Amino acid sequence: MKYSEILKNPEIIEYYEKGNQILGKLGYTDHSTTHTRLVAERAAKILDAFGYGEHEQELAKVAGFMHDIGNAINRRHHAEYGAIIANEILRDTDCDMKDRVQIVSTIANHDESTGVAADPITAAIIIADKTDVRRNRVRERKKSAFDIHDRVNYAVTSTELICDDDNDKITLVLTIDEEICTMYDYFEIFLSRMMMCSRAAEVLDAKFELIVNDQKVL
Ligand SMILES: [Fe+2]
Ligand SMILES: [Fe+2]
Repeated sequence: MKYSEILKNPEIIEYYEKGNQILGKLGYTDHSTTHTRLVAERAAKILDAFGYGEHEQELAKVAGFMHDIGNAINRRHHAEYGAIIANEILRDTDCDMKDRVQIVSTIANHDESTGVAADPITAAIIIADKTDVRRNRVRERKKSAFDIHDRVNYAVTSTELICDDDNDKITLVLTIDEEICTMYDYFEIFLSRMMMCSRAAEVLDAKFELIVNDQKVL
């Protein structure tokens, strides 16, 4: 079971098409494979920066690519549903039992509603997922129809995640167009996610920092 194979798995792709269709109807930002590939690759980079090996990075990539498949069942509890679906899919592969349990547990714990980072792979996925804020996550629609999530994502004109192993720091650097969204809007949407990143960073023995428009806010 390799990340390169998981990327092409038709069942996983079908779950994402269905899930993204449902979330589009509910007014959510993009949750397609563009988001999940980004999470997979960003999580592997985080682990690499903090000295974790290839095997951990590969598990993070597989978990990252699969982490949102539960949206095809229901947005609420999508992490838990996704974990159960992933377990079924991975059982049909040559994935080792221990690795499968790790991936399933990571998926089940990625959401801020009930999840917790109890190990480095889950911590990396949480940070990679919660820091995916960008203008092109907003779906095509009139600006007048934007909700607060759209405004916050649309306002982000640049995002950079810096992993600094020497100083034990993970820093999210954002540039926000404050004409579109205020800091207050940003925190209303992202405070719980940023707090989850902060707790996840501790599992990697690091500190999570947030810099918005050159100001350190966390
Ligand atoms: Fe999710
Ligand atoms: Fe996600």
